[in-house]
Amino acid sequence: MLAVGMVVQPLFPSIVYLSQTPCILYSISLWQHLQLQLMMITIKMGKIYTLWLFLIGIIVSFSISSSGKVPAIIVFGDSSVDSGNNNFIPTIARSNFEPYGRDFYDGNPTGRFSNGRIPPDFISEAFGLKPTVPAYLDPAYNISDFATGVCFASAGTGFDNATSNVADVIPMWKEVEYYKDYQRKLRAYLGNEKANEILREALYLVSIGTNDFLENYYTLPERRCQFNTVEQYEDFLLGLAENFFREIYDLGARKISLTALPPMGCLPLERAINVMEYHGCVEGYNDVALEFNGKLGGLVTKLNKDLPGFQLVDANAYDILLQIVTQPSRFGFENAMVGCCGTGRFEMGFFCDPQSPFTCTDANKYVFWDAFHPSEKTSHIVSNYLIEKYLVKFR
Ligand SMILES: *[C@@H]1O[C@H](CO)[C@@H](O)[C@H](O)[C@H]1NC(C)=O
Ligand SMILES: *[C@@H]1O[C@H](CO)[C@@H](O)[C@H](O)[C@H]1NC(C)=O
Repeated sequence: MLAVGMVVQPLFPSIVYLSQTPCILYSISLWQHLQLQLMMITIKMGKIYTLWLFLIGIIVSFSISSSGKVPAIIVFGDSSVDSGNNNFIPTIARSNFEPYGRDFYDGNPTGRFSNGRIPPDFISEAFGLKPTVPAYLDPAYNISDFATGVCFASAGTGFDNATSNVADVIPMWKEVEYYKDYQRKLRAYLGNEKANEILREALYLVSIGTNDFLENYYTLPERRCQFNTVEQYEDFLLGLAENFFREIYDLGARKISLTALPPMGCLPLERAINVMEYHGCVEGYNDVALEFNGKLGGLVTKLNKDLPGFQLVDANAYDILLQIVTQPSRFGFENAMVGCCGTGRFEMGFFCDPQSPFTCTDANKYVFWDAFHPSEKTSHIVSNYLIEKYLVKFR
C-alpha cells in the first residue's frame, strides 16, 4: 500500500495541476501516460473524494425537540455526506472496513469516510432526530426508518455525470431517481397527506462539488479539452446545480442547505503532492473553490427569488475549515497537515490499511481522518458552526 503511495507521489506534479493548457494530457510522453495510468488506478482504488462539508444543523448542546418543524433529514451529495450507499453498488470507492468507523458506535465501519460520524448525523441529532442518518440502499433499514432521515449520497460523485463515471458511483440524476422512489414508498407507508408534509418540511442537506474539480477537471482530459478555462467549467457545473435544485423543488423540497467546496487545496493529498511549495496548501485550488462558491451564492439568491417558498441556504463551510487548518490548536488539534490513517498523505479508501503501523492512535488530534476527509471531530465542529450560523432558522 505504502509503496504505491510512494511511487505515485512524484508523479502527480507532472500532471500539471492548474495548468492553463487544457489538452495537455493528449501531448504527453509515453512515460507520462504510464504515470497517468498509475494515478487512475490510485483513484479507482479508493479515492473518494470530496470532502467534508456539509451543511446544516442546529446547536447540539440544546437539541431541538422532535416535535420541531423539521421531521426528517434528507441527504444528497458525495463522500462528505455518504453514510454507506456505495457498499451496495459495484464500486471501489468504499470505506466499509477497518480502520474506518473505529470511533463509530461499536467501532462499526459503515461506509462513512470517517473514523466516526459525519455532518448529517450531527445535524440530525441536533434537530432532535436520530443520531445517524441511514443509507437508502442499505437493506438493514426500511421505510419506517427512512421516514425521519435518509441518505442518497454516494462517495465519488459530482454535479457532472463524467465525475461519477470515474469510480462508477451514483450520479446525481440517479440520486434524484432514488429520491422519487423514496417518495412513492413514503406515500404508500404514511398516506399522501402525511408523506407530503414530511417531504415539504424536511431539511435537505446537499454537499457536493469537490470531485468535479479534483477527480475530474484537473485529473482527466475530457472536460479540460471541452472547457478552455476552469471558469467555463464552473459555469457548466452551475447550470447542472440549477437544474438539480429546480428538480427537487418541483418534487416538493423547500428547506435546503447547500455546502459546496472546502479549501480543497489544503486537503492532505493535495498538499502531499505540492512539493514545489513545501507541502503548503495549493492556493490555486483554494482560489477556484472561493470563486465557484461565490457563483453558487449568486445562484442561491436567484433561486430563492424565482421559486416561491424556496428556502435554499448557502451553508458555506470554507471559512471555518480554513480556520481549522490554519489554526488547528485553537480547536484542540495537533495536526492539520496529514490525515490520521497510515502516513496520512495518500491513504483513503482501500489504501487506508488496517495493518498500517503509521495510523494515529487518537483521531481527535487530527483535522483529517484520511488524506481526503475530515476526522469526526472536525465534522462535529463544522456541523455546529453551520447549524448556529445558517440552520437555526429552520428550527
Ligand atoms: C421495518 O422493519 C422493522 C424491523 O425490522 C419491522 O418491524 C417493520 O414492520 C418494518 N416496517 C415496514 C413498513 O416494512
Ligand atoms: C447525465 O446522464 C443522464 C442519464 O444518462 C442524462 O439524462 C442527463 O442528461 C445527463 N446530463 C448531462 C448534463 O449530460
